[in-house]
Amino acid sequence: MKQSLDREGPLPLPEIIQGGMGVAVSDWRLAKAVSRHGQLGVVSGTAIDTILVRRLQDGDPQGDVRRAMRHFPIPAVSVRVLERFFVPGGRAPDVPYKLLPMYRRVVSAEREQLTMLANFVEVWLAKEGHDGEVGINLLTKIQMPNLASLYGAMLAGVDYVLMGAGIPREIPGALDALAEHNLARIKFDVEGASSAEAHYLEFDPAAHWPEHGGPLKRPRFLPIISASSLATTLARKATGRVDGFVVEGPTAGGHNAPPRGEPRFNEYGEPIYGERDVVDLEKMRDLGLPFWLAGGMGSPEGLKAALAAGATGIQVGTLFAYCDESELTEEIRTQVLAAVSSEKVRVRTDPRASPTGYPFKVVEAEGMESQDDTRVRVCDIGYLRTAYLTADGKLGYRCSAEPVDAFVNKGGDISDTIGRRCLCNGLFANIGLPQARNEGLELPLVTSGDDLTSLGSFVAGRAGYSAADVIAHLLVGAGVAAV
Ligand SMILES: Cc1cc2nc3c(=O)[nH]c(=O)nc-3n(C[C@H](O)[C@H](O)[C@H](O)COP(=O)(O)O)c2cc1C
Repeated sequence: MKQSLDREGPLPLPEIIQGGMGVAVSDWRLAKAVSRHGQLGVVSGTAIDTILVRRLQDGDPQGDVRRAMRHFPIPAVSVRVLERFFVPGGRAPDVPYKLLPMYRRVVSAEREQLTMLANFVEVWLAKEGHDGEVGINLLTKIQMPNLASLYGAMLAGVDYVLMGAGIPREIPGALDALAEHNLARIKFDVEGASSAEAHYLEFDPAAHWPEHGGPLKRPRFLPIISASSLATTLARKATGRVDGFVVEGPTAGGHNAPPRGEPRFNEYGEPIYGERDVVDLEKMRDLGLPFWLAGGMGSPEGLKAALAAGATGIQVGTLFAYCDESELTEEIRTQVLAAVSSEKVRVRTDPRASPTGYPFKVVEAEGMESQDDTRVRVCDIGYLRTAYLTADGKLGYRCSAEPVDAFVNKGGDISDTIGRRCLCNGLFANIGLPQARNEGLELPLVTSGDDLTSLGSFVAGRAGYSAADVIAHLLVGAGVAAV
């Protein structure tokens, strides 16, 4: 029996959430494939504005992006973006992509509209042609585009918002405001600012679409957390309704929460997690809200165990990341799966790679090129830039993966730059949208969960597999659905 959390009427909750995977690994195709099969498909909204303008510069060969753009409720925005970025037939692969201005606390109305449009397009395409529900994943830590992203996704009727990588305490209230087309405001983290002087990010729908056609659906909100104490705080002190939680452990793909307590590292320099990092599921049950378990749960046994523990189901990333509908390039999927079969693959939890400061899982597979520290540092996408207070009291922006001199000149600590990778450029290369530079194309930086190595038994004997295969494997294997 599926549970329900809808206050007005029963709507089934999914047993499987396909985890949001940035950037655009879980794009609209994957989310749609999952949602059509009755589970929750989740698009990634991270950096999706840059994805949109790169797809347009590559000629939007199937016309999907332009079809969705025609449905955006502010048509002048689509017209302007098309004029500026669409290249009929696509640019040549060695022609660098045109870039968007990097995010700052306040950006132009046009820049905000592009973010709204891109999130709209992604959700609209994922929802097109079926009645299933679709979620969007955003990272709390990438604060600056988030309010415009949420509004854009809501204009397309997004059903769920899932956010981790930080404490999204103010997002529920923002969703309530945006559903009424009211101004939304959240606190903005500024390094060097005293606690007495708060900085804010604001987004005002009326500045873009004053003649709106009535309230929008308020999506359900599921924070992604790694400690029951955080779930308790969010359930009690968030600025609005929280509808459930994704409980994510340190084996999950992408970013992980750092271990609690004094940092300790193993012989490979990976952070060591211990008892204190295990989420207290009894406390989760006591909260009385639905929850899904994530991180190494993508197996029939994982789903069974989650259900037995009182969870509504599981959130799965890695298994979906290598299916046919994933946006990881075919070359990467083939190379990684081959390396899994020959046991020549390793997932390293790198405590330094991500400029966010969170541990980040990096796939090292035989035969696969990967970004390393020989990359000439360039910061031109900039989603991981953080704000700091300059000596004259203004806001500056820096990223610890940018050129070292620039970072230090902006007051950054040189030790912060050690081992950092440019996640922005690496993740765009993962999905076949690498920037072209004089030195060649940007190289990928692939992430997966620790469970990647156990994919071998699932893929053995298959030429490839679909999202539907993953869902059937999990549900049938766990005895939730019949063959
Ligand atoms: C390629 C990849 C990218 C990911 N990107 C994100 C992301 O952008 N935001 C996020 O909240 N989680 C991200 N995750 C985590 C997944 O949403 C999911 O919670 C996790 O993968 C579950 O663990 P599993 O990989 O063991 O199945 C990513 C995971 C993978 C494999």
